[in-house]
Amino acid sequence: MNVFKALALGAGLSGFLLSAAYAEGLQGKVIGFSQIGSESGWRAAETSVTKQVAADLGIDLKFADAQQKQENQIKAIRGFIAQGVDAILVAPVVATGWEEVLTEAKEAGIPVVLLDRGIEGPEDLYLTSVASDQVKEGSVAGEWLVGAVGDKQCNVVELQGTVGSSPAINRKQGFEEAIAGKANLTIIRSQTGDFTRSKGKEVMEGFIKAEDGGKNICAVYAHNDDMAVGAIQAIKDAGLKPGSDILVVSIDAVPDIFAAMVAGEANATVELTPNMAGPAFEALDAYLNSGTVPPKFIITESKLYTPADDPQGEYERRKGLGY
Ligand code: AHR
Repeated sequence: MNVFKALALGAGLSGFLLSAAYAEGLQGKVIGFSQIGSESGWRAAETSVTKQVAADLGIDLKFADAQQKQENQIKAIRGFIAQGVDAILVAPVVATGWEEVLTEAKEAGIPVVLLDRGIEGPEDLYLTSVASDQVKEGSVAGEWLVGAVGDKQCNVVELQGTVGSSPAINRKQGFEEAIAGKANLTIIRSQTGDFTRSKGKEVMEGFIKAEDGGKNICAVYAHNDDMAVGAIQAIKDAGLKPGSDILVVSIDAVPDIFAAMVAGEANATVELTPNMAGPAFEALDAYLNSGTVPPKFIITESKLYTPADDPQGEYERRKGLGY
């Protein structure tokens, strides 16, 4: 994917991304990127967009895959500090436990940009955070379900993301807020599927078993599309129809969920752009070259997609962008 395609993928996330030109450029800058791992299709897309945008901008990107472990991320960040990199990108697997290592980066004068997940603790430990409004993502999903079921009694099961991660915490909160006060909508079971397809399937199988072979479940809310795709498989294996017997709503908008919509097996998803790197590099360019301090939070869009939004076209568009 070239840089313009990558930027176009994030178009609509804000004028910030496409309006301002790169000031002097990041050509030759050394930037460390501590990525969480490869738990989902969305994560793989974010990794490939970041590498491609960095290559197009002439950045020497040092990539470290933490394989889902915070201790590996901390080790990688310490390694970047020791190398004296110009900046560090980190997608924090969980929200807590970052103060010590980010203080070390700060003391070394290395700006840190958070990608796609937030952390708890002092905001002066990072330059900016490029992420979605995850509470809003949950509420967009919840509002869709409220509208879809109307007055019908609906038991919901929830597949949560990684325990302790900001999207798991916030997407849960936003969804609960959206359905609060709706007596006909109840979350009857909620468990982590760790943002993976295999865990999503396994946990959904347990929910189905415990709820009269799935007959007592009206909808599944998954904190990401990969878990939704796993849940769809579990629903089919139980002899039920995902998309009609059990509604499926999730977050990310990766190609596989659009394929499921085309098959009538998924009902709604909330888009999360994988292009966090575009705004991050733009902020770093302005900061490193002209000392411009970016906004503390750069928020990407959270757009709802349903089968009414040309899922076949969306599938092809995203595949064409290199997802
Ligand atoms: O932090 C973003 C979340 O992490 C994505 O929704 C999910 O797919 C990923 O693993």
